[in-house]
Amino acid sequence: MDKILIRGGKSLNGTIPISGAKNAVLPILAATLLTDHKVHLGNIPHLRDVTTMMELLGQHGATLTVNERLGVEVDCSSVNNTLAPYNLVRTMRASVLVMGPLVARHGQAQISLPGGCAIGSRPINLHLRGLEAMGAEIDLSGGYVSAKASRLKGANIVFDLVTVTGTENLMMAATLAEGRTILENCACEPEVTDLANCLISLGAKIQGAGTSTILIDGVEALHGGSHNILPDRIETGTFMVAAAMTGGDLTMTGTDPRMLDAATQKLRQAGAIVEEGADWVRVIGPEHLRAVDIKTLPHPGFPTDLQAQYLAMNCVAHGAAMVTETIFENRFMHVSELQRLGADITVNGNTAMVRGMGTLRGAPVMATDLRASACLVLAGLAAEGETEINRVYHIDRGYERIEEKLKAVGANIQRIHG
Ligand code: EPZ
Repeated sequence: MDKILIRGGKSLNGTIPISGAKNAVLPILAATLLTDHKVHLGNIPHLRDVTTMMELLGQHGATLTVNERLGVEVDCSSVNNTLAPYNLVRTMRASVLVMGPLVARHGQAQISLPGGCAIGSRPINLHLRGLEAMGAEIDLSGGYVSAKASRLKGANIVFDLVTVTGTENLMMAATLAEGRTILENCACEPEVTDLANCLISLGAKIQGAGTSTILIDGVEALHGGSHNILPDRIETGTFMVAAAMTGGDLTMTGTDPRMLDAATQKLRQAGAIVEEGADWVRVIGPEHLRAVDIKTLPHPGFPTDLQAQYLAMNCVAHGAAMVTETIFENRFMHVSELQRLGADITVNGNTAMVRGMGTLRGAPVMATDLRASACLVLAGLAAEGETEINRVYHIDRGYERIEEKLKAVGANIQRIHG
């Protein structure tokens, strides 16, 4: 298994290009199952999860043509298999996103239940309940969930809690249902809006994406089209924290700072300077960071996918702060690894009290999930001495060429192929 070695203590300076958003390209790739016509997608990030989703579409019978300019053409006209197998689903929970499109377009889907993951049990009951409300017959057996419907019917659905992929799955299913679907208590993440914009470009009739109520009027069929994936706000936020933690000066380009208002506000409270342009954001780290309280919430609240990164920032700040995780039940796996670097953190349920130490000391650590591994990279960049991060396959799921992007702005970082 690969590992990443970092010799920390250097301030990072320069420009980092941002890739397409993982959490937008995954539902949008699944959405191509809704049409028999070709869909051209641009700004595709080169990530393990994207490769996995493309493999899954190929398994269904789709034809994918990847070009060298981060583009892919997807042709689902020959899809003939509605099974999403365990060996793929267990490596990527987002595989569940093919369920809505398959039932809507092909009348059935057999999806391996994703099972839990490091950050929580992450059930899909709300996805299934919504499809049932639209007339699907749901059956669970042998670790698989099967959904069948000759044609889905529009329904009024109120989500018990805000779910990003639940909103996306049912929005996709509703595009081909008979009649109107009203989804309430929806996720408002920018990736939901990007998916809706792509679906609309294929002929779907959707109103209200990005708000908590989405109206979808089903159509008989979708046509082809093209769409560029929006920039990755979590990658952007991760590098913004890298500038703050190393006292550096980084400009992230090809992004949209308006997606990160909550995260930006917290960086400013911590003492960093944040300058914003139409498609770039610049962060200048202060001499000394102030610890800041964080509470994760659905968008536009503070994103749970940046919680680990800001907790790491608090470890090298001055003062004490509380970090509260309200979205997932077990998203503090990074804490014990940060403690190996000398961090002073006390976890009590879904809150972590961090007493900033001003600095950390490098040591070998273990990545446990995608965003925890990003947090350990940030901690290694700020720590004195050498940090060795093991199991970096986690990080490759969601960050494109992270060590190359960081090396280009002055980080002493290298990947050891194992
Ligand atoms: C999406 O996961 C993202 N993944 C996650 O990003 C992100 O952390 C999460 O949304 C929250 O923003 C993708 O978009 C591919 P949820 P998702 O359904 O949709 C509970 C990353 O690091 N829930 O919004 O799976 C669930 O257990 C990943 O890029 C149910 O109880 O998350 C959780 O506690 C990690 N029943 C809460 O809702 C359901 O049917 C929010 O989960 C669905 C969800």
